Amino acid sequence: MTQAALKITLNTLQQMTRDGEKIAVVTCYDASFAALLEGAGVEVLLVGDSLGMVVQGQETTLPVSMDEMEYHTRCVARGSKRAFIVADMPFGSYQESPQQAVRNAARLMAAGAHMVKLEGGAVMAETVAFLTARGIPVCGHLGLLPQSVHQLGGYRVQGRGEEEAARLLADAALLQQAGVGMLVLEAIPAQLAKQVTQQLAIPTIGIGAGPDCSGQVLVLYDMLGIYPGKTPKFARNFMGAGSVQAALEGYVKAVRDGSFPGPEHAFL
Ligand code: KIV
Repeated sequence: MTQAALKITLNTLQQMTRDGEKIAVVTCYDASFAALLEGAGVEVLLVGDSLGMVVQGQETTLPVSMDEMEYHTRCVARGSKRAFIVADMPFGSYQESPQQAVRNAARLMAAGAHMVKLEGGAVMAETVAFLTARGIPVCGHLGLLPQSVHQLGGYRVQGRGEEEAARLLADAALLQQAGVGMLVLEAIPAQLAKQVTQQLAIPTIGIGAGPDCSGQVLVLYDMLGIYPGKTPKFARNFMGAGSVQAALEGYVKAVRDGSFPGPEHAFL
């Protein structure tokens, strides 16, 4: 098999979803961890704007800039040969217009991303359609939207209650119709995440969304227990395994065999 054939693509992730094989995703911000993570079997490296909190020590993701996202995407791409790289569009880089979103997404793709991620539901559908029609794959993000933390009134579970759940299901359908190739679901009841996953053909990637998503994502620093801030209920520290390498392999194994997330990591 050629090296190119071994590369993880969106088709690989969609096939895994059809086959019921769980996708392991981890946030990644540099070249060394990119190599370690893909060596441990992680399929998707998410250059998350969570780097604002875990790398830069900011209180939220809001101050992260396009230059910073571009820099970290380039670092991750240099360290990776095989993984599928998704880069977050930072706050303020895509909300203004579809044209603004294309300009900034193009910078992340040129830096080495294979897909960009943006937060929001119906309001983002036009932008998603505009990007995907121009050859830029997009990952959606619903539920707890960290870039909207001040509007949400804190980092709270979303999608509780009939009205909120119905809105989230409708947003997910709209985003898929607009062209998203993958969807992150953050901090929503496990039952709702299951419904969204059953409703969609594209992979769903959960973080605090229960065990029934097509894959799971964790913030690397939470997984290694090295973030000095508050650890979310849905995170698990895998460093009990004894080494960084064993922790990363332990995470991949736990995602694949469904033992992570457990009931203690899920919301009702
Ligand atoms: O920035 C990030 O790390 C993310 C994950 C929480 C999904 O978007």
